[in-house]
Amino acid sequence: MKCSNGSPALWASFAIILFAAPKAGARPSTGFAQASNVVHSSPAPSQDNTPAGPADPSDYVGAETCKACHEGIYNNWEKTPHWKTTLDTKGGPSRQGCEGCHGPGAAHVAGGGDITKIFIFKDHSAKEINDRCLTCHASGPQQMHAINSLHAKSDVSCISCHSPRHAQTQEFLLVKAQPELCYSCHLQQRAQFSMPFHHRVNEGLIQCTDCHNPHGTVAAKQVRTSAAQDAVCFTCHADKRGPFVFEHEPVKVEGCESCHTPHGSPNVHLLKVSNVNLLCLSCHTTSFANAPGAPSFHNQAAQYQACTLCHSQIHGSNVDHTFFK
Ligand code: HEC
Ligand code: HEC
Ligand code: HEC
Ligand code: HEC
Ligand code: HEC
Ligand code: HEC
Ligand code: HEC
Ligand code: HEC
Ligand code: HEC
Ligand code: HEC
Repeated sequence: MKCSNGSPALWASFAIILFAAPKAGARPSTGFAQASNVVHSSPAPSQDNTPAGPADPSDYVGAETCKACHEGIYNNWEKTPHWKTTLDTKGGPSRQGCEGCHGPGAAHVAGGGDITKIFIFKDHSAKEINDRCLTCHASGPQQMHAINSLHAKSDVSCISCHSPRHAQTQEFLLVKAQPELCYSCHLQQRAQFSMPFHHRVNEGLIQCTDCHNPHGTVAAKQVRTSAAQDAVCFTCHADKRGPFVFEHEPVKVEGCESCHTPHGSPNVHLLKVSNVNLLCLSCHTTSFANAPGAPSFHNQAAQYQACTLCHSQIHGSNVDHTFFK
């Protein structure tokens, strides 16, 4: 898959910015600092525009000041949930307004808009971007695993999916609505959901994020778990949960995916293979044909009949160990 946004060009420009924009601590020796006496007064430890770091309140100017030169942006942003940060004074100015994301702006303003003195997202690596957003969002119940998510590890940053300012969707500030957002990188899944039988994601009935958490999960494949920390499938297919007196072992042990492909299938019941008998026979060798009481047509060579015709309670039964009812 070629989805990484960590292109060489991006890295190169990042390196250039590193040279062009020394850390706050180095400012006084660069000649930039004379533009701002505010910056001089800073103890300037390891700031680097990081909202989380120890910062001098005088490095911050507040969103109203940014508005003076970036009015259009301000007006858009005012309509997003991030505007709320201006009301929350608990975290101090490093967690508020434009500077909650772009870092301290006093030097940028004093420099008449010096772009080397402000955090510019497109010049930074996925990890730096994620870290920045996560200064506020790391404790979010949905984002708890974001740092170690496969997306984060694959250089897919928060702003691959969210645009805090240019969002195309009102909801969740997404750059695109689902499923197109996901298909823009996951081409194979687009093909799967085009199969004759599929969960109706393209039709808008359910979403990729009903089953996956794009911010990462403890489970493999970024698959969510149900409220009871069980298979996500049970959130909608509760009747399959059991517990049953007679469990069909693979349902509990290997999970629903041992028989179903949830994205799409040639089989009406979303089975992994188009023919149900082939599915059963992939685990059950013909030895069962000799079981006491087993009818002769168990021998597929003799007569074809769908296994589930008789073994209909295939997900488990409370009355019958062979899942007849
Ligand atoms: C939630 C974090 C966040 C906040 C708050 C925020 N920005 Fe941004 N800003 C970004 C990101 C991310 C980008 C990169 C473009 C994008 O993805 O939207 C950006 C891009 C920009 C740009 C680059 C030009 C452009 O159009 O892409 C400017 C200028 C800017 N922001 C100014 C501001 C101002 C002014 C405010 C306050 C009114 C502000 N930002 C608030 C995250 C933020
Ligand atoms: C005195 C006017 C002025 C003020 C006040 C100001 N800026 Fe800027 N800003 C500029 C100018 C000029 C540019 C360069 C624009 C360009 O090159 O397109 C700029 C560029 C930026 C960029 C980079 C845009 C890019 O090309 O990616 C960001 C981000 C930004 N400003 C954020 C802020 C934030 C946040 C504040 C408030 C803390 C702020 N600005 C306040 C004038 C200002
Ligand atoms: C691969 C795409 C993708 C990436 C990467 C991503 N998100 Fe999201 N995010 C979404 C989608 C889609 C939603 C919509 C919520 C849903 O349907 O579950 C969402 C919802 C959210 C929400 C609001 C919903 C909630 O309950 O928390 C926040 C906050 C959020 N994301 C923050 C982040 C942050 C911070 C990062 C970076 C660490 C990030 N996202 C990375 C796709 C993404
Ligand atoms: C200074 C703290 C702060 C930073 C930094 C920050 N956010 Fe947020 N974010 C918030 C707050 C506060 C909300 C509103 C939460 C609410 O409504 O309960 C929010 C809401 C969101 C939402 C949900 C929008 C919705 O419609 O529900 C998304 C998505 C989001 N942020 C993404 C990001 C991304 C991406 C970044 C980094 C570019 C980022 N945030 C950086 C504080 C922050
Ligand atoms: C009904 C639940 C469900 C929906 C809806 C769903 N997925 Fe999945 N997806 C899964 C499960 C379960 C797995 C793990 C399959 C496995 O382990 O064999 C998975 C696996 C994946 C994988 C890993 C590769 C693979 O095939 O094993 C990707 C990528 C993926 N899904 C993307 C998506 C995208 C994109 C969407 C929306 C267009 C989506 N999924 C919608 C349940 C779902
Ligand atoms: C910017 C590109 C991009 C976008 C947008 C994106 N993904 Fe991904 N996704 C990736 C990459 C890269 C990986 C790393 C593994 C891979 O190559 O499949 C990945 C991995 C995954 C995996 C785990 C695959 C595995 O093998 O374990 C799932 C599930 C997934 N994405 C779901 C989604 C969903 C759901 C969305 C939409 C909300 C989405 N992705 C949007 C690029 C993207
Ligand atoms: C958000 C709710 C939701 C989740 C989560 C979900 N499903 Fe479904 N599923 C549905 C709906 C609704 C249908 C009805 C079929 C349709 O799309 O018309 C369905 C249909 C099915 C079918 C086909 C039913 C038939 O008609 O034969 C199977 C099999 C299935 N789901 C398995 C799974 C598995 C396995 C998982 C977990 C990986 C899962 N589902 C997760 C909502 C969900
Ligand atoms: C041992 C294989 C196997 C496993 C494991 C399995 N299924 Fe099935 N499932 C089937 C078969 C076979 C059918 C078709 C039944 C028929 O032909 O009547 C089916 C049908 C379904 C249906 C549609 C018909 C119905 O009974 O509602 C749903 C929904 C479903 N399964 C969900 C699940 C879920 C959720 C899981 C995980 C808890 C799961 N399945 C695990 C084999 C399996
Ligand atoms: C992923 C492997 C797997 C698949 C696919 C599978 N089974 Fe099973 N099945 C098992 C295991 C393991 C057991 C428990 C051990 C045993 O008795 O063989 C079991 C048990 C059974 C039993 C109960 C046997 C007894 O003595 O109580 C029946 C009946 C059965 N399966 C029928 C089916 C049918 C019909 C299908 C196809 C719809 C099917 N199985 C698909 C693995 C599978
Ligand atoms: C016409 C009904 C019928 C069909 C169709 C059928 N079976 Fe059976 N199956 C039975 C009966 C009857 C038994 C014996 C039940 C008993 O032992 O009480 C049995 C027993 C079993 C057992 C348990 C054997 C054991 O070791 O106790 C398995 C496994 C099994 N069948 C699998 C299958 C598979 C796989 C198929 C499809 C290839 C299939 N059955 C088709 C009626 C059927």
